[in-house]
Amino acid sequence: MNNIIIFDTTLRDGEQSPGASMNTEEKIQMALQLEKLGVDVIEAGFAAASPGDADAISRISEQVQNSTICSLSRAISSDIKAAGDAIAKANKRRIHTFIATSPIHMEYKLKMSPDEVIKRAVDAVSYAKTFCDDVEFSCEDAGRSDIGFLKEILDAVIEVGANTLNIPDTVGYRMPSEMGAMIKELSGFISNRAILSVHNHNDLGLATASSIACIQNGARQVECTINGLGERAGNAALEEVVMILKTRKDIFKDFSTNINIKEIYATSRLVSSITGIETQPNKAIVGKNAFAHESGIHQDGILKHAQTYEIMSAQDIGLDKNSLVMGKHSGRHAFSEKLKKLGFNLSDEELIKAFERFKILADSKKEIFDDDIRALVSAEITKAQEVYKLVTLQLSDCNPGGVPSAAVTIEHNGKDITDAAIGNGTMDAIFKVIDRVCGVNGKLKEYKVDSVTQGKDALAKVVVKVVFDESKPAIMGHGLSVDTMLATARAYIGALNSYISMKDGLRNVKDKLI
Ligand code: KIV
Ligand code: ZN
Repeated sequence: MNNIIIFDTTLRDGEQSPGASMNTEEKIQMALQLEKLGVDVIEAGFAAASPGDADAISRISEQVQNSTICSLSRAISSDIKAAGDAIAKANKRRIHTFIATSPIHMEYKLKMSPDEVIKRAVDAVSYAKTFCDDVEFSCEDAGRSDIGFLKEILDAVIEVGANTLNIPDTVGYRMPSEMGAMIKELSGFISNRAILSVHNHNDLGLATASSIACIQNGARQVECTINGLGERAGNAALEEVVMILKTRKDIFKDFSTNINIKEIYATSRLVSSITGIETQPNKAIVGKNAFAHESGIHQDGILKHAQTYEIMSAQDIGLDKNSLVMGKHSGRHAFSEKLKKLGFNLSDEELIKAFERFKILADSKKEIFDDDIRALVSAEITKAQEVYKLVTLQLSDCNPGGVPSAAVTIEHNGKDITDAAIGNGTMDAIFKVIDRVCGVNGKLKEYKVDSVTQGKDALAKVVVKVVFDESKPAIMGHGLSVDTMLATARAYIGALNSYISMKDGLRNVKDKLI
């Protein structure tokens, strides 16, 4: 049996998706969920990118026990040291160092000769080996690199102890058959001297297909992300790669992964809710419509025999379509049983808070679905420390010709501060009054509202991206409520609290590392 190592880079390449920045609490929750999903290696970030990234990797290293924790680093000694320090407390640890190997990258980006690139790679791997035994080396833009040069550099890094050799199609240019052929040749060349890995980007929509072709030709590690997040059009989607191997057992009978597929849906939901990036409805495996059958002919077929139109079932990935609906009469025991079933493992204190929020929601919403509970609980456990806490929000009704206004009471340092503001609209008034009370001047870059489930009383989920300091990236905030304006105020204050918790560790927007 060939075990395919699943290397998840949602927290690193996924975080490079425009606007997908996460706070440390969110990263920790994600890492714990990835561990539960059974991923072999979690690339937890890029330690040298900022003190905040390094801190998140180090805290993840303390908490995750079963998955290997990895930090990316350029082939530069200061990066490697930052990576080595950040993963020092991990039970199993890896440094992933990379340098570009394609003619275009070497000439224009690195301005280095091929010999200099080889030397830099060898020095980087040798230095990384002084921090941990498990070292991965990547040839950035391998897809457009000369195969002869790839062999030369891979040979050199194997000599100094690289254990995993990664072949990224960084710009998603190659056809699956081309990547397959490349891996076949490199696999023959490397033989059993190291593990061959692939990392395919999705610029032409081929990332998953290419990863599968690579597996068929000798790759034994696949780098991927949940929901296919990642730089530009993203990376190969973990759920797709894993479900292809599982569903086409006729082809892949000799291949296995350590993934617990029942955790796929929960992981996908957590990533969407934390990043604010919803999957498209028709996304394979985890999209809203992936298991929905609209047409009468299909529904009739499914009722007669599920496999007429289904090659896998929703239950396989942990999506329970017939789940018990909860409501205001559900007690704490039923609620905690439900949380266990949904895969949440809360402390007593977290459970009390989550139950309080559930009760408040149940007062304004008749039926509460699994996705409502997922959204509610993940919002609770990934919240940054509440430096500012919304106590009340009062809005004027916006009659035509009237002046929209918002009044808030916000708790800060144990004191309630009350103020009011007028605005061009209700939302503008909300942002203005919060800015005034908290002494900031946030610039709203993105605003999105979605209903978590169906029904007129559906829970609204608002995601905002706000810049509080022009030299720092936009910070995301989430707010949940059956009232969209209340969700908006919560989201904005959430972004501010996240900003305060991260501000010293945030990278400067002008620093481009990759
Ligand atoms: O796409 C890429 O080449 C990367 C490397 C840093 C592995 O993400
Ligand atoms: Zn990448």
